[in-house]
Amino acid sequence: MGKGFFLSKPVGVICMILGAGALATIIALSVVYSQEKAKNDNQVLPTDGGTTTKAPATTAVPSNEPWDKYRLPKSLVPRWYNVTLWPRLLPDETGLYIFTGESTVEFECVVETDLILIHSNKLNHTNLARLTSVDSGVKAPSIKSSLPQIETQYLVLKLDGKLVKGHMYHLHTKFTGELADDLGGFYRSEYFEDGVKKVVATTQMQPTDARKAFPCFDEPAMKAVFHITLIHDIGTVALSNGKQQETSMLNLGKQNVQKTVFEPTEKMSTYLLAFIVSDFAHINNTVDEVLIRIFARKSAIDAGQGQYALNKTGPILKFFEGYYSSKYPLPKSDQIALPDFNAGAMENWGLITYRETALLYDESFSSNSNKERIATIIAHELAHMWFGNLVTLRWWNDLWLNEGFASYVEYLGADHAEPDWNIKDLIVLNDVHRVFAVDALASSHPLSSKEEDIQKPAQISELFDAISYSKGASVLRMLSDFLSERVFTQGLTSYLNTFAFGNAVYTDLWEHLQMAVDNNTDIKLPDTVNNIMNTWVLQMGFPVVTIDTKTGTVTQKHFLLDPDSTVTVESPFNYEWIVPIKWMKTEVHQTDIQWLQAKTDIVDKMKTTGPTDWVLANINVLGYYRVNYDKDNWDRLLAVLSTKHNSIPAINRAQLVDDAFNLARAKIIPTVMALKTTKYLNLERDYMPWKSALNNLDFFYLMFDRSEVYGPMQKYLMKQVSPLFNFYKTLTANWTKIPPGHLDQYNQQNAISMACRTGLEECTTLTKTLFKNWMDTGSQIHPNLRSTVYCNAIAAGGATEWEFAWSEFQKATIASEAEKLRSALSCTKQPWLLNRYLEYTLNSTLIRKQDATSTIVYIASNVAGQSLAWDFVRARWTYIFNEYGGGSFSFSNLINGVTKRFSSEYELQQLKQFKADNSEVGFGSGTLALDQSIERTISNIKWITENKQNVLSWFETEAKLNEPML
Ligand SMILES: *[C@@H]1O[C@H](CO)[C@@H](O)[C@H](O)[C@H]1NC(C)=O
Ligand SMILES: *[C@@H]1O[C@H](CO)[C@@H](O)[C@H](O)[C@H]1NC(C)=O
Ligand SMILES: *[C@@H]1O[C@H](CO)[C@@H](O)[C@H](O)[C@H]1NC(C)=O
Ligand SMILES: *[C@@H]1O[C@H](CO)[C@@H](O)[C@H](O)[C@H]1NC(C)=O
Repeated sequence: MGKGFFLSKPVGVICMILGAGALATIIALSVVYSQEKAKNDNQVLPTDGGTTTKAPATTAVPSNEPWDKYRLPKSLVPRWYNVTLWPRLLPDETGLYIFTGESTVEFECVVETDLILIHSNKLNHTNLARLTSVDSGVKAPSIKSSLPQIETQYLVLKLDGKLVKGHMYHLHTKFTGELADDLGGFYRSEYFEDGVKKVVATTQMQPTDARKAFPCFDEPAMKAVFHITLIHDIGTVALSNGKQQETSMLNLGKQNVQKTVFEPTEKMSTYLLAFIVSDFAHINNTVDEVLIRIFARKSAIDAGQGQYALNKTGPILKFFEGYYSSKYPLPKSDQIALPDFNAGAMENWGLITYRETALLYDESFSSNSNKERIATIIAHELAHMWFGNLVTLRWWNDLWLNEGFASYVEYLGADHAEPDWNIKDLIVLNDVHRVFAVDALASSHPLSSKEEDIQKPAQISELFDAISYSKGASVLRMLSDFLSERVFTQGLTSYLNTFAFGNAVYTDLWEHLQMAVDNNTDIKLPDTVNNIMNTWVLQMGFPVVTIDTKTGTVTQKHFLLDPDSTVTVESPFNYEWIVPIKWMKTEVHQTDIQWLQAKTDIVDKMKTTGPTDWVLANINVLGYYRVNYDKDNWDRLLAVLSTKHNSIPAINRAQLVDDAFNLARAKIIPTVMALKTTKYLNLERDYMPWKSALNNLDFFYLMFDRSEVYGPMQKYLMKQVSPLFNFYKTLTANWTKIPPGHLDQYNQQNAISMACRTGLEECTTLTKTLFKNWMDTGSQIHPNLRSTVYCNAIAAGGATEWEFAWSEFQKATIASEAEKLRSALSCTKQPWLLNRYLEYTLNSTLIRKQDATSTIVYIASNVAGQSLAWDFVRARWTYIFNEYGGGSFSFSNLINGVTKRFSSEYELQQLKQFKADNSEVGFGSGTLALDQSIERTISNIKWITENKQNVLSWFETEAKLNEPML
């Protein structure tokens, strides 16, 4: 799945605007993974972290019958299915939307048994299942009883005799299911077109919902060939993984319908199936005989919103064919944008499904970050066509390899599609820094899980977290770098060729990479791929590498954000890693990788010799670790930043800032030292260092925007950001043009949002004027600037501005525009507007249910809305909990979001009271988040006590320096 599954776009947007969200380090303590259903379409660190806890291992079940176990017995292996489904796009007389279906599965009996277990969830079986034997010589036993198992999601068939090993059988079933709006299995999505309500029947199977569409052996290693047929209303379009093979008319009862038969699929896993019936339109092209089609609502296709995706899909597919040295395995690649979709996107083989914001692009509404999201998410899903779909991990415990891999190579694919963007660098902000925050907690977990620990659907779902996606991506990038891309892809190709149409485990990949290493004598590793990678995969966390440039001593230590936390989980490697260190000395890149294989080592070359000599390690942040130095070297690096910052690569300037702030949080260096890394920013024009600084300064805003530190801090930051603001003012001819570079466009947005945030009057005037012109004359604001301008103008304005934006929100026809407005509406400073907006969030005709949490969290991010949102959540807890208890409503995001500013004794007491008052109602998926919020509040109180005075006087001094003489 695209990483939208766990990232929070909404929160991302607001951070950018208010600058108040989520630096990695705050999240760090706030961490509960939650399935917030959107994707960060912004280059912002999201505020929800990744999961840090694991569900307990295999839950004990009272009895030990095969159907009480969550894993299928190994007795039956499917070969092919023949599935016919008929979704009804109109409700039946009881108001229910349903689908009917029948299915035949041919399976082989590999271990003699008198029991058939096949997954089936929420299906009503309308006929008794029928079992027949394929070989005429063998008679099939008859079915004694047929029982659904609700908890383990099986249809259990007891037979009056044994199935014979080595023989083939057919099991035929007929069933009815609900086409619910629950975003899982076969479900329905609704939208309005020209005032008419339209219904789409669509699917999301991953990880365990194919069993909600038809009875199947629903485990990724149970690959089979699928013959799919869809029955649908005349005039509608039916799509599935294979190409449409034939279409005919059918009279069923009194109804004339259409029947579409699809070409049989390749041998594949059930979680990659897709069935869709809609009246969508499409555009298409053909690239090297592969048919590429983009489907969406008719009005979106007519408006040309699919064109960008169509333009990029072919080149990205070609790129991956080259990268994997393997032809795209299917004759077609369909991509479809759905109005209701849980994740960001889903890599169904041959029919990829997307959220609308992840596929549809409109020049006049979409910002550069909207566009970037489309390119990267297409690349992510297309990467899975081989890695994941052609070769599939045997069980979900290896999910990290599947998603980590796609999350790494999505940058390579997108870079190929948009070579001018420098997008590959962004993995450092979006994945490495982001997951550092989560993985620096004592409650983090290793990438790899044991197969037996992952059994229940909920345990599987929990694996879709920041560790799997972002840490997976980070360590694979590190691996590809120290092997070299040439050797990495050689191993990859051999892995794909060996396991094509089958399954593998992650060590199979290491084996094939090792073979590639052995065939390339120029690659020298200190140990095997397996042994090196085990230190990154089998233990949680990552090291901070400390280099003492006076002695050349290099040491590593498990980096913990909270130095007082205790690690209770033992590691097979005692929290030591085999660390590849790329480094430079006083502007000269060292060509060899320095490997650190023990707790400590002496590297003579890393000794500095003169007062201007410096060492910088982890060049381009290719390694998954933080770096600390002796104080002298820090001082020299700071001196280089303020005199010749370009002699340090931009990615490393971003890293110096991020490392320093996090080392300070961990009390390894003084907080003032971290603040000093922001002093050179008045000279900085590059995006990455600025973004890194703003992410880290967010924590200071959260802690101090209600205290006396705020004034001097604002004054200092205004001084730092003004040159950047003026730089962009000139570059864009007084804000009339947009800078050509993709990252420069982001930094222009940073310049405006930060300048306005510090209260720079020229900035406030600019955003007010642009917004007023839009209100008065309809003159459009450039999409790149909309989020920032909307938010600041609404913050500076009153009811008129708010009402205008609200009506625009209700009118918006493209999802990305609605998103921008929905977050900006939370920026007002008027308590009554904020309170009314809070009320709207619980009215699903005004704010869709899936957007309720993030809207409340936006409001809490606004310093004026913080306490209102907290009061609101406290007062309505029972209602919210009962009304929104199921499905996609994320209580952990909500609790983390409304409490992230908490930093006083009083707030701590309130939080504890809240916990006590509602213990009967419960906190559902927010239970852990609540405890973590309490922990975080305690840690914030401590941090403020220890740092407030220093920070205040530092800002006061710095704000006064070089003040123009009056
Ligand atoms: C699949 O089932 C349909 C009817 O249920 C039948 O017409 C068709 O021949 C079957 N196809 C295969 C490959 O068995
Ligand atoms: C399945 O059966 C249950 C119990 O009879 C019924 O309430 C439900 O509506 C049925 N579902 C469908 C889709 O027919
Ligand atoms: C592809 O689109 C063109 C129009 O651009 C159309 O003529 C052609 O029939 C389409 N092909 C398919 C297979 O949809
Ligand atoms: C798609 O490609 C065509 C042809 O190269 C180009 O004219 C068009 O502007 C592109 N559209 C988008 C949205 O990128």
